[in-house]
Amino acid sequence: MRFEILHKDAMGRIGRLKTPSGVVETPALMPVINPNIDFIPVKDLKRIGAEIVITNSYIIYRSRDLREVAESKGVHRLINSDLPVMTDSGSYQLMVYGDVEVDNRTIIEFQNRIKSDIVVPLDIPSLPDIDREKAERDLEITLKREKEAIDLHSEIGDDRLISAPIQGSTYLDLRRKSAEECSKLNADFYPIGGVVPLLDAYRFQDVVRIILEVKSALPPSAPVHLFGAGHPMVFAMAVALGCDFFDSAAYALYAKDGRYLTVNGTKKLEELQYFPCKCPVCSDYTPREVKSMEKRDREILLGKHNLYVCFEEINTIKQAIRENNLFELVETRVRSHPYLLSGWRVVRDYIDLMEKYDPVSKQGFFYTGIESIYRPAVVRHERRIMNIEIDKKEVLISSDKNERADFYLVPVFGLSFAENYPSGHAEFPDEEYIEDEAIVKALDILYRFAEQNRDVKFRLNVSDRWKEVMKSRNPPENIILLE
Ligand code: GUN
Ligand code: ZN
Repeated sequence: MRFEILHKDAMGRIGRLKTPSGVVETPALMPVINPNIDFIPVKDLKRIGAEIVITNSYIIYRSRDLREVAESKGVHRLINSDLPVMTDSGSYQLMVYGDVEVDNRTIIEFQNRIKSDIVVPLDIPSLPDIDREKAERDLEITLKREKEAIDLHSEIGDDRLISAPIQGSTYLDLRRKSAEECSKLNADFYPIGGVVPLLDAYRFQDVVRIILEVKSALPPSAPVHLFGAGHPMVFAMAVALGCDFFDSAAYALYAKDGRYLTVNGTKKLEELQYFPCKCPVCSDYTPREVKSMEKRDREILLGKHNLYVCFEEINTIKQAIRENNLFELVETRVRSHPYLLSGWRVVRDYIDLMEKYDPVSKQGFFYTGIESIYRPAVVRHERRIMNIEIDKKEVLISSDKNERADFYLVPVFGLSFAENYPSGHAEFPDEEYIEDEAIVKALDILYRFAEQNRDVKFRLNVSDRWKEVMKSRNPPENIILLE
């Protein structure tokens, strides 16, 4: 297998992708290199954390000088790097300018000739909300071009990877169809395309739905790239949804615009009095010093900081996967913007899919807010509860762990029947401060369990906090609330 998955958490994974120029550990961020512009050299990108980069074969193809070097020496020599290189096809230019001066076959053959590690056909990035008919036509053409790329490649038969970008605009059934057809083609790499306008507009609910529809149609072993997502604010969420690759033009574009990236959003250099970061750039300079520099020096320093932040976040995410607390990390990150939070809440509609991916063994459960209610661990626990058989006529349930009881009432999980993961290893805020939703969720489970065991009496010894929430939710008759 080209892509080997080593560790998993939520729908995220740490993996290894084999390319002709070497192995890349995922989640991976590919800095975008513009071969026309001399910016941060690749050796510096590598030092900051890049294991793979992406450049644009169409830009190289259109320039006689660049093309000559690339064709005679290969794309790696052109950009002066031994790292694996993915080459885009000009589709993005197609999306922005509506037209390109190259056909699919020509640009694929060119990418093969210049020894790209990951080849991208000339897919059509359909814009969000376009006519359905147009989205369908675009997708048909995209699929035909992807098939052409795969066929061309099997004629040559080398080991470079062929990608099959997934399109379909904001039509979820088209996204799913696109993913199904691409996986039938047996491509090596699956970019989710056409999402840049959605990301730019902070339409994270759409982005999350698209990713999850695509993931539900792709095999788990497929490496997935979220095309054009370069802001570290979205990395944790996207990894938790199963994305393995990102590309960042943002680090450079934002730097040229005087913008400073953080995992919680973007800041303007102009408005910074202090750097909230300790990367080499932010350690060596103050905002005042950077502001007063020559334009080019300033842009390079900002670009480097932007990359440091991105790679730091990638490492934070990888460590969270190893510690099995990616959900906790995402739930923290999505609080940095209300639209991210509502985007993440879409996972409620995909709990079955999440559960299929999320590994069962876990370290613990930290409640970080009402989003925690929708974790697969909760679904699994609920199912285990519903399978318990009770051989008594009467059971005592308490919300106080220090009291003797048959079961304990625990926020979110409802009943805890053993000191087993997750309910016994869950940490919550004090009852007085926890959201009603967490108590309501627990009561729902308790009530369903009681209804399933109508001939058992459930004697409930609970604190005032539970009683308060119970007032608005009448229990079944076999639950007896003790005073
Ligand atoms: N760059 C950003 N979005 C896209 C896309 O949908 N397709 C391609 N080929 N490149 C992109
Ligand atoms: Zn910094």
